[in-house]
Amino acid sequence: MSKEAILRMEELRAIIKEHNVAYYENDAPTISDEQWDSLMSELKELEHQFPDAKQPDSPTETIGTPASKIFSPVNHSVPMMSLDNAFEMKEVEQWTKKAQRKLENEDIINELVCELKFDGLAISVRYEEGNLVQAATRGDGSVGEDVTHNVLTIADIPHKIDGAPPVLEVRGEVYLRISEFEKLNAEAEKNDAKKYVNPRNAAAGSLRQKNAHIAAQRNLSFWAYQLGEVVDGPALTSHFETLEYLQSLGLPVNKNAKRVPNNMDSIEKCINDFKERKSEYDYEFDGIVIKVDSLDLQEKLGTTAKAPRWAIAYKMPPEEQVTTLLNIEISIGAAGSATPFARLEPVFVGGVTVSTATLHNQDQIKEKDVRPGDKVIVRRAGEVIPEVVGPVLEDRPPGLPKWEFPKNCPSCKSKLERPPGEARHRCTNHSCPRQVRGRVEHFSQRTAMDIEHLGEQTVDLFVTHALIEDVGDLYFLDFDRIKTFEGFGVTSVDNLRNSINLSKSRPLGNLIFGLSIPHVGRTNADLLASEFGPMEKIMQTTLTELEEAEGLGPVIASSVYEYFRTPKNLEIVEKLKLAGVNFVGPVDEGLEKVLDGKSIVVTGTLENFTRDEAADAIKKRGGKSPGSVSGKTDAVVLGDNPGGSKISKAEQLGIPILNEEEFNHLLETGEVGSS
Ligand code: IVH
Repeated sequence: MSKEAILRMEELRAIIKEHNVAYYENDAPTISDEQWDSLMSELKELEHQFPDAKQPDSPTETIGTPASKIFSPVNHSVPMMSLDNAFEMKEVEQWTKKAQRKLENEDIINELVCELKFDGLAISVRYEEGNLVQAATRGDGSVGEDVTHNVLTIADIPHKIDGAPPVLEVRGEVYLRISEFEKLNAEAEKNDAKKYVNPRNAAAGSLRQKNAHIAAQRNLSFWAYQLGEVVDGPALTSHFETLEYLQSLGLPVNKNAKRVPNNMDSIEKCINDFKERKSEYDYEFDGIVIKVDSLDLQEKLGTTAKAPRWAIAYKMPPEEQVTTLLNIEISIGAAGSATPFARLEPVFVGGVTVSTATLHNQDQIKEKDVRPGDKVIVRRAGEVIPEVVGPVLEDRPPGLPKWEFPKNCPSCKSKLERPPGEARHRCTNHSCPRQVRGRVEHFSQRTAMDIEHLGEQTVDLFVTHALIEDVGDLYFLDFDRIKTFEGFGVTSVDNLRNSINLSKSRPLGNLIFGLSIPHVGRTNADLLASEFGPMEKIMQTTLTELEEAEGLGPVIASSVYEYFRTPKNLEIVEKLKLAGVNFVGPVDEGLEKVLDGKSIVVTGTLENFTRDEAADAIKKRGGKSPGSVSGKTDAVVLGDNPGGSKISKAEQLGIPILNEEEFNHLLETGEVGSS
């Protein structure tokens, strides 16, 4: 047996125990949950390899830490167990198979329940003859701490339950809503007091207070998810029935729990659904618990010393990690905007490896005070782009200088300016190669002129060789010269030429969007096309006319107005005209104009249309699809995860709200109403 391994195991046991005290007793962890998980995995692996060196008091064998002495001890009549973890779907699959093997195919696990793994503090609440008599933390699983005085202040937990059996122990999680956590930390900041690192620690810190007034002020919440000891209770046969029973007693049960058939597709779908909706909830969860539904099978499966065999916790990839900020660099956008971003030591967060993250603008960097060389917290939740939350100040090397916004563009060296009243800096040189590249890439993207075979590298090459200085030049490329470039054979040149030619007939909205007019996005480009097209007319539209257009607003109006009064831009438009690019309007597919003059707002995600496709479908039928609801809106199409204000505004104004099926009917007939 390796001496090194034994020493490492000893070291790991000591480190983990220390962190357990920091986490469970002091509610002030000094490492992330993921770092803790990885120490535990390492210890488990070594114990597996060298079983003789495993100690009975190893943290892999124990739950939490012994209850602290400040509170009276409470013996749990039914132990409060921990859960085994799975970090990948494969491990979930192994768990289902192992459980099934244990039952030796006599009993088949047909159904499971998937529920959220709430990130709070487990407690057991005991009712006798319907009265709340005691509440305790988990402690080491057998002995917890008496926190009755604090639990009595939690509004979600009834003090009295009518119709409860003579003894009823309810188990669940005390947690702090994210909104309450933010309030608490805002208050702490105001008073110069210490902030909590996350809602879990704030909840735990609040529950483990001697003084119940403090817990009362914190507005703690509770989710019930299990039963402990029950005397003369109802005959329940499944976990799902248990949840329904808890709910019927007036206890808060999270409505996301779902019964699913025991197969990987169903489990995975359920997990993905939960993950997708994470940002909608006002509480945190760090995983999904999968439980065997049948209570009879749960009993047959039993438990290990630490955790039930009938459940597993699928842990989600961490959403926050600490890494080193290597540098702050500037990217130059199509319209010249200079955006600072963080170059990071690569780190796995939110399920992907992140090596850059946006820092938005000068003010944000100032506020966060991140400096190259800092250890920073990086966050990536769901599908959103990664962001730098802030520095870990304790780890800042002494004398690390503050970061200053550079004075010059990293590409063309001309001055970076910050226009008064704006948050962003801009590169002032219209011919800056990075700007040109950005504008050409923007122009050729799928939702603009959709030019295939014009990848980033090709654009780069053409800009470097001065073949293009603006998007107009794309239609006058010197293909004979291009043929001489390395990697450009006859076929690839033909392909490029064809796709550039094809792009000439894109709808006018695509062209306007492609021009990189500051502040003009897809929706407004279409609006400009349908409201003021053709191109020559848009160019002559007065500022007042633009400002009065529904959905445009003064900033966009003046940006459009300015664009068409800048000689350099007029040159581009002239080139496009000369090339025969479509200036007239949408390419008509001959659809009946059933929505002529109607204004239909789309909000949320539809199943069979992207937002652009939905807007396109409306426009092709003669309608408009502005981005906001107003008195002129004829109907609002509602998908999943809609923008909140649109629906409430539609309701206020009494505008019909359509689902996707009704939207399809509307597209076919122009009628608002179900098919
Ligand atoms: S079941 C014997 N269900 O996770 C069954 N636990 O790592 C054990 N937790 O101590 C608990 N959400 O604090 C269960 N839906 C859920 C849970 C959950 C959070 C916590 C609980 C437990 C810990 C185990």
